[in-house]
Formats: sequence, C-alpha cells, structure tokens
Amino acid sequence: MVGGASLRGEVSVVGAKNSALKLMAGSLLAVGKTHLSNVPAIIDVTIMAELLRRLGCVVDYDTAAGVVDLDVPATIMHRADYELVRALRASICVLGPLVARCGRADVAVPGGDAIGSRGLDMHAKGLETLGATVHVNHGYLIAEALDGLHGGEIRLDFPSVGATENILMAAVLAQGETRVRNAAREPEIVDIAAFLSKMGARIEGAGTSVIHVEGVAALSAVSHEVVPDRIAAGTWAFAAATTGGDVEVVGAEAGHLGTALDLLAGAGSDIKVTDRGFRVTATARRSAFDVATLPYPGFPTDLQPFALVYNAVAQGSAMVTENVFEARFRTVQELARLGADARVDGHHVMLHGVDRLSGAPVEASDIRSGAALVIAGLVADGETTVSHAHHIDRGYAGFADALRGLGADVTREPDDTAPFL
Ligand code: UD1
Repeated sequence: MVGGASLRGEVSVVGAKNSALKLMAGSLLAVGKTHLSNVPAIIDVTIMAELLRRLGCVVDYDTAAGVVDLDVPATIMHRADYELVRALRASICVLGPLVARCGRADVAVPGGDAIGSRGLDMHAKGLETLGATVHVNHGYLIAEALDGLHGGEIRLDFPSVGATENILMAAVLAQGETRVRNAAREPEIVDIAAFLSKMGARIEGAGTSVIHVEGVAALSAVSHEVVPDRIAAGTWAFAAATTGGDVEVVGAEAGHLGTALDLLAGAGSDIKVTDRGFRVTATARRSAFDVATLPYPGFPTDLQPFALVYNAVAQGSAMVTENVFEARFRTVQELARLGADARVDGHHVMLHGVDRLSGAPVEASDIRSGAALVIAGLVADGETTVSHAHHIDRGYAGFADALRGLGADVTREPDDTAPFL
C-alpha cells in the first residue's frame, strides 16, 4: 500500500468471528438444524465447518449470504483432529459441547495465533469440577464423563473467555446447578448464553462475573444472529483516528467498545453514536494516550496492536500495557522497521509519537498485528508491504477492498504463505 490518505466514508461490520465459531460449536448440543446468520466470510469459519463435518454434522456455509446451516445427527464423533485444531485454536471450544453430548471429547492440543502461551488448565479444571476426568495423551486433551456431567461450583483464576465458554456449554446439559465465579463478561459470552437460552438452557448472569446454570436434559436447535464484531468495529475506529479520517462504522454496537471509544474521544477524536452504528471523526494530529489491556469491559487485548500504531504517530508519549497475553508485542519490531519510536519493557511498550512513519516491508504475525500494520502503512511515506497477509483474512473479510472503499491506496497481492486447508 501507499500511505497518505485519510480514510473517509462508511464501512460495514458483520458478526463476530469469536462468537460465530463458538455458536457453531454450541450447535453440537442439540440434535437437528441450527441456522446462524450475520456470519463473517472468513477462513476460520470454513475450518470450523470442516471440523464439525468430520464429527458427523452436515454443514452448509454460504459466505455471500453470511449464513451457516448445520444439521447435527443424534450420534456424533468425539474426536477433533490435530490437522484442524492446529489451524484453528478456537476449535478447543468443541471440548465442552462434546463431553456434554458424547460423554467423551478428544481434542488435539491447539496451535493457532502466535500470541503468548495460552494454557488450558482452567478449561480442564472446570470440566473436572463438573465430573469429567481430563488428561493429555499423545497430543490430545481427553475429557471423559461416561456417567454424565453434574453441576458444580467453579471459580476461575482469571476470567478466561474460552474456559468460561467451555464450562458454560458443558454445564447446560449437566445434572444440577453450576455456578461460575470470576467468569468472563465479554459480549460474545452474552451472545452464546442468549443462543443457549433460546435452545432451552437455563442460564442467569451472563455478562456479569457470576454465571448460574441449571442443567436441562436436552436442548433443541434454533436460529440465531451473531452479535456484531466489536473488534472489527474497533479496528475501523482506530483506522479512522490514526489516519485523521472520518468513518461511519455501520452495523457496529458502540456500547461494546465503551473503553476504546472513550480513550479515542479523550485524545481528540469526535465519536458519535448514529442510527446505524457510530462515526469517528478525527482532527489534525491526535494526542497520545496510555492504555492497559484488561478483560471486558476493559480495553480489549485484540485492539492493543492498533493502540500501538495510533500512538506511534500521535502527539506526545504513551505507554501501552498488555495484561491478558504474554509476548503479544510482535507488532513492535515491525513498527520499528517503519520508523516508530517504540521500546518494549516487560509487558509495557513506551512510544514517542513521530510525524510520519516511513514505508518498508513488514510481516504480519497474527490477525490483529497484520491489520494494524496495514493501518501503519497508511500513515507511512511511500510503499509498505505486509507479508503473511493470510493472517488478516482470518479476521477480516475483504479488508483491502474495504480500505479502498474508504479512499486508501491498498492492494491485496496473492499470498503463497497461506496454509493449505
Ligand atoms: C479469546 C479470543 C481472543 C481474545 C481473548 C481475550 C477467541 C477465539 N479468541 O481467546 O481473540 O484475545 O479471548 O479477550 O474467542 N489462560 C490460562 N489457562 C486457561 C485459559 C486461559 O492460563 O485455561 C490464559 C491465557 O493464556 C491468556 C489469558 O488466560 O493469557 C486469557 O485467555 P482467554 O480469555 O481464555 O482467551 P481465549 O479464549 O483463548
């Protein structure tokens, strides 16, 4: 891409990747036909669809319509192979549904994004409290509850999104009551709870730190629309602010981005909630701001790379602190190649804003760092090339097209580093 343009116009966001994948896994809990709409057109959904097919489901994914139709048979397989789990870490979310439905789940220990060490101990402990035995054998996490699951009291050491989801999706079919304390409160958790409740589950407190579940004997398949993608919406908010632009983000839910939008507004961008979403209008050069990532409703770790890029070209100095994942600072070394004044110190990055970056070849290491580096390229003189751009496709359908629609000079080149599915 060639830097220089301020982004102007409107852009749409669809359903959240991080909810759609979990809803697909959750569909395993009911025999019959689940219909999901507002599903993003991304490779991760394709991988999850394939994983569910191998478990015995019939899955139809219409990327143009944003629809996934799943037909779940009465008997399903319980093993998720390494080949697919490696390609999609989020596939660990079939663990809870499989053990609830089959009394056993064998899920390969995942690979996925290169962002810090991501343990599974809270997933395992939670399922053990519900009566499963959990162990790792030949690269597989095996959870067994041959006599079925029962309710239990669980307190998470950290409000892990994935652990909360797996426990929730197991507890809905367990016998008796489950209480999860220090549960994750992300909007995607609320979405999954709403989906499960429609199916007949009894859940209270989703969106708060204490979730209460009363198990039921069976659930029935339903239709559901995926919650808007707050991380994609936040990406566009940062893209507008960083480039000094004016962008309406259509389909977004501003209330899910409170902390991020407040920070941008406090640093000089004008944010308005509109009928269709929200609009970010930036003026001249924005001021730098300190930010620390935290579980929801704090500032999302998935927007941290965008905060780095924003502050790299903002007026003043800033400290960006990562509290959720270890070693999620691979964007920094690439930003330095573009001339950013940024230094990593433990889980902090100190930045001193510069007027402009200068274009160079850089490499995407995960979905968000890739998209953030593209935005960096928009505020860099000359040409920037982001390699390994297949990472970006995993979170954003048609990212380059959307940027061009907002006036950016960006093209998507063929990418021979993309993993083959
Ligand atoms: C999800 C999102 C991801 C987002 C993250 C935090 C999906 C597919 N991914 O990831 O985009 O960045 O939430 O908002 O929804 N941990 C443990 N043991 C466990 C579980 C987690 O130590 O058993 C640690 C992880 O290493 C990490 C932290 O807890 O440091 C948060 O992880 P978690 O909230 O579980 O994130 P994910 O569900 O993996």
